[in-house]
Amino acid sequence: MLKLFTGLQPSGSLHIGNYFGVLKPAVEMCREYDGMVMIADYHALTSLKDANALRENIVSIVKDYVAAGLDPAHTIIFKQSDVPEHTELAWIFQCLVTVSFLELSHAYKDKIAKGLEANAGLFAYPMLMAADILLYDTDVVPVGEDQRQHLEYARTAAAKFNNAFGETFKEPKEKILQSIAIVPGTDGKKMSKSYGNIIPLFGTKNEISRLVMSIVTDSKAESPENVYAIHSLFKSKSELSELYKTNKGKYKVLKEALIEDIESLIAPMRAVRDSISDEDAKRIIKEGGEKARERASKKMTDVRKKVGVSL
Ligand code: TRP
Repeated sequence: MLKLFTGLQPSGSLHIGNYFGVLKPAVEMCREYDGMVMIADYHALTSLKDANALRENIVSIVKDYVAAGLDPAHTIIFKQSDVPEHTELAWIFQCLVTVSFLELSHAYKDKIAKGLEANAGLFAYPMLMAADILLYDTDVVPVGEDQRQHLEYARTAAAKFNNAFGETFKEPKEKILQSIAIVPGTDGKKMSKSYGNIIPLFGTKNEISRLVMSIVTDSKAESPENVYAIHSLFKSKSELSELYKTNKGKYKVLKEALIEDIESLIAPMRAVRDSISDEDAKRIIKEGGEKARERASKKMTDVRKKVGVSL
């Protein structure tokens, strides 16, 4: 079976755009692969300095993925910090690449362009990510378009190591998840937490209803564009064309139909999510971490020999 690896930063609650863009396709892919899903808690430390928030986000994202259909009996779900081989290998990669090479990183350059100072963790971020992926002889990495450059970094790290110390790492391929072009938020701009315009994936029915009712509509048009764009995530064009034709100009009716369609997808997932306790989530991560560590420590035994630190 081919090996799949993906990672996610635990950055708080997901919205319906995340679900259709990343969560759903990643969960579906995991069924066909020997898969590993890693919570990148050390990567999160490059920006998050709130221990309680980090703890909560970790537990929360495990629940989200399991509720969305990820099966911990088939896919290894674990957190980065439980497998110290990741940071160990990252160090070795950092010693193989140059500062000017890391200076090309988009995440780093964006920070500088905004006039902000980047911490050294953010600067070295691509090498930790390379370690995540390469430790497990990964074949494919499903990620969003914004991660493409990181996969190039990972392949370069693999090549540099192989070149210096002999064939050790496989060069992985990305599988870019074509996140449904742009999912609009309640204000019509791209749905994004930073714009405060999201519809949360696991919101209560009341919360979701309130937010759908607040979606901005153009009073001149007969079909509310933003409502339709969100609706088309849930229903096919042909199903929607009938609905929007019969209810021309009736924004309230259309919004109510959207609420029902969101609810019928989310309600069963929300029920699963509510049935997972914090203890369950922690147990899933712990067991996943043990399995991941077994694989990682084998690989690192070889790596330590190759670089000359094990005698
Ligand atoms: N950088 C990724 C993101 O922000 C998270 C991540 C960390 C990752 N390690 C990974 C993704 C390894 C894929 C593979 O979304």
